[in-house]
Amino acid sequence: MKVDVLLGLQWGDEGKGKVVDVLTPGYDVIARFQGGPNAGHSLEFNNIKHVLHTIPSGIFHRNSINIIGNGVVLDPMVFKKEVDKLVQLGVDATANLLISKRAHLILPTHRVIDAASEAAKGKTKIGSTLKGIGPTYMDKTGRNGMRVGDILSEKFEEKYKFLVEKHMNILKQYDYSFNLKEFEEGWFEGIETIKKFKLVESEFLVNDYIKQNKRILAEGAQGTLLDIDFGTYPFVTSSNTICAGACNGLGIAPSSIDKVMGIVKAYCTRVGSGPFPTELENATGELLRKQGHEFGSTTGRPRRCGWLDLVALKYAIMINGVTELILTKIDVLDIFDSIYLATHYKVNGKITDRLPYDLGEKIEPVYKEFKGWKQDISKIKDFQDLPDELKVYIRFIESETGVPIKICSVGPDREQTIIR
Ligand code: GDP
Ligand code: IMO
Ligand code: MG
Repeated sequence: MKVDVLLGLQWGDEGKGKVVDVLTPGYDVIARFQGGPNAGHSLEFNNIKHVLHTIPSGIFHRNSINIIGNGVVLDPMVFKKEVDKLVQLGVDATANLLISKRAHLILPTHRVIDAASEAAKGKTKIGSTLKGIGPTYMDKTGRNGMRVGDILSEKFEEKYKFLVEKHMNILKQYDYSFNLKEFEEGWFEGIETIKKFKLVESEFLVNDYIKQNKRILAEGAQGTLLDIDFGTYPFVTSSNTICAGACNGLGIAPSSIDKVMGIVKAYCTRVGSGPFPTELENATGELLRKQGHEFGSTTGRPRRCGWLDLVALKYAIMINGVTELILTKIDVLDIFDSIYLATHYKVNGKITDRLPYDLGEKIEPVYKEFKGWKQDISKIKDFQDLPDELKVYIRFIESETGVPIKICSVGPDREQTIIR
């Protein structure tokens, strides 16, 4: 079987965790292919609310195999916390979670460099989650990094010390005081936790699974507009969050990919700095935040909110070759009299539906207004039963993008999902 890819089409937090959890019974394998503990993927079922950071969102289904792919960056300290939390919920992740030896390790000093670099940027800071993501990927591409496989080497400690020393030299250029011991807390214990897991050459494994006709779902983190190449650079993360990232991050050929499922929130959010053309810095934006509980799953920061942006969505669909859409958090719009959607941008007086290179301040979104449905949809199970006004909104998105919306999410719980 081929690999299906599920990824975010906006600035992250589209509801990937929830939807992967819902879809997992249809798959044998769930594999994360990029990002790291900057991600926060929330799941809700049987009154359990849980947030995963590095562990794939299929972990609660005991029959699924979960893989942390080579494209992921892994912080042993965060990973141990995640594993321990799962144990408290009765889930022993060692039973069905495999880790690629090629995944890179986030060192305590990567977190320090992240913090120092952001502090030095002042007003121009990225708004990083400060999990050490950027510095770790820099060491990966700079060919200095440490990989999960290194923890099995006799030279592990030597390599660690060597890299830490390098980082300490880098840190000298910053006016940033820190206590390394504090940052190291839990890190070495985390290494011992990782050793309890099967460390694998996941590229062989995944390709063998493909040959064995196993059904594989690749789970993206972040979203297309945070992609290092195609996102709102430099306000992006440091990995390829797009579909191509699944090939790099798992070691599979493009021809192995079947469905590309793009998740889109019924409105937009963004956490951290950077351009956001449809942002609502007013009472409506606040209402969206309140209704949608839009606070970061990883950092708790309030998320910036705004209307759905079709210009950006069409761009994301193009870059990823999305074959089907998943529309989430539709229920958040239940209370609005009118719902708006940006169909075009006005850039220097010219109307366009192409995402410009520079998403600076000169962009004015052109909105289309939709009548709100003004009813609680959170308990609806069948697409047919959705209010007509919502169907108009859904059909408009489908006709503009040319991609069908196959799943509608109307609440955070597993059960609140309408599959067409
Ligand atoms: P992810 O990073 O894409 O997995 O998304 P997050 O978990 O960071 O953020 C999505 C938030 O919305 C979480 O708190 C989810 O529990 C919640 N959520 C997911 N789908 C829905 C939905 O359809 N309706 C509502 N109201 N909340 C949802
Ligand atoms: P999930 O997988 C939302 C944002 C940060 C910051 C920028 C760079 O839960 O959708 P980084 O820590 O990567 O250096 O931060 O990217 N960011 C996310 N925003 N959801 C995420 O992940 C994010 N991961 C990173 O807020 O603006
Ligand atoms: Mg999230």
